[in-house]
Amino acid sequence: MSIPRKGRLGLLSAATAGVVVAATVAVIGAAEAGTTLGASAAEKGRYFGVAIAAGRLSDSTYSTIARTEFNSIVAENEMKWDATEPQQGQFNFTNADRIANFAATNGKLLRGHALLWHAQQPGWAQNLSGTALRNAAINHVTRVATQYRGKIHSWDVVNEAFADGSGGGRRDSNLQRTGNDWIEAAFRAARAADPGAKLCYNDYNTDGINAKSTGIYNMVRDFKARGVPIDCVGLQSHLGTSLDSTYQQNIQRFADLGVDVQITELDVQQGNNQANIFASVTRACLAVARCTGITVWGVRDSDSWRTGQNPLLFDASGNKKAAYTSVLNALNAGGTTTPTTVPTTGPTTGPTTAPTTNPPSSGACSARVTLNSWSGGYVATVRVTAGSSAVNGWTVGVTVPSGGAVTSAWNATNTGTSGSVSFRNVGYNGQIAAGGYTEFGFQGTGAGPTATPTCSAG
Ligand code: G3I
Repeated sequence: MSIPRKGRLGLLSAATAGVVVAATVAVIGAAEAGTTLGASAAEKGRYFGVAIAAGRLSDSTYSTIARTEFNSIVAENEMKWDATEPQQGQFNFTNADRIANFAATNGKLLRGHALLWHAQQPGWAQNLSGTALRNAAINHVTRVATQYRGKIHSWDVVNEAFADGSGGGRRDSNLQRTGNDWIEAAFRAARAADPGAKLCYNDYNTDGINAKSTGIYNMVRDFKARGVPIDCVGLQSHLGTSLDSTYQQNIQRFADLGVDVQITELDVQQGNNQANIFASVTRACLAVARCTGITVWGVRDSDSWRTGQNPLLFDASGNKKAAYTSVLNALNAGGTTTPTTVPTTGPTTGPTTAPTTNPPSSGACSARVTLNSWSGGYVATVRVTAGSSAVNGWTVGVTVPSGGAVTSAWNATNTGTSGSVSFRNVGYNGQIAAGGYTEFGFQGTGAGPTATPTCSAG
């Protein structure tokens, strides 16, 4: 998800489970901008998020900080496999929904963590192997991603699948033993289930250029070349007392592949350098256009999984630490680059066009397209924005370059597949509030459309 700039934060509104909804736009007042992590990050076109636990939400110090300071939420444990499918085929979203509802009620973006992981599997999955496990895993991805379709800006589709150490290869696990293609199978299933979500690969010990991050880099490059749907790489960034000198360079090399980068689980061991490291990470993200957001892995030190290391931005009493101030200052000071899902230059696997927008007028709509391209194909995301009046039904016209064709569309119905192709809203996303927007997507062969789409309302 790209975050609109200058005090405006595009937020998915609360919705019935499984339904993609038109987005509303919450305006953060000028006085608020820059005084909280979320508001300041939004000023830089990014999100600043936090991992929360459903069991702690009744603690008002905790929930107030989460509500006040951050503009994106992720479940620390509640959306994992053991939590959402405790018995095979029997899904339980009670606690996951508590997190999702907290995000929706408070106007926060929502990250999804994590669809498949070798850890925190339910017992029944741990006991499966081969085809039975593969089928169960893909079914899990499909069911959970469908459940939250339209509500999640980015999903960690696969978590921690690479081994530590010098080899740069895959981690052994029951999932890996189902075949090396399990990761791409998961990404394809996630794309089909929730086409609007950014799909991320997420891992730790990837906080610089090293064998593990290079193994992941090679996988992402291969996925982009073969059209496997991947949109982002999550760098967990559970950090010690120093920061790898290639931290930013590593973010940049992933961005240059044509994927977004998100800092997904940031925490830093307490020590003399903690505030500096937090600030350096923030600056590194701001310096790379495709680094779209940062999430810290917990609210207060006392909430952290790293017991005794005090690795977060608030102390056990909920007071802001020096690390908090250094992050806020870095956000307010830095960032000459604003994120876009489309870099302007890059390798052949990179996207090829920048988004363009028609200024909306009353009773009208405008559309802009963002491309994720690879050699021979692309995925296009189209944002439809209402002008100063609400829109009730819309049609977007796209010119597909000759030689190429639209192969599938989501959240819209297409007429035609080549040349002039029109996309009509579907039942649930035809109405857009004044100033609001909705998004649809399509996949195609050949080169992606470069001309600004037309949009007509009604
Ligand atoms: O909820 C039960 C509780 O009922 C029980 O009494 C208690 C006894 O141990 O366990 C509680 O569950 C624990 C859960 O956290 C909630 O606190 C689990 O044992 C414990 O394993 C689990 O740890 C989580 C860990 O992932 C699991 O591997 C941490 O909270 C969570 O912060 C951590 O997050 C991971 C990311 O998902 C992936 N990257 C690394 C990161 C840190 O390990």
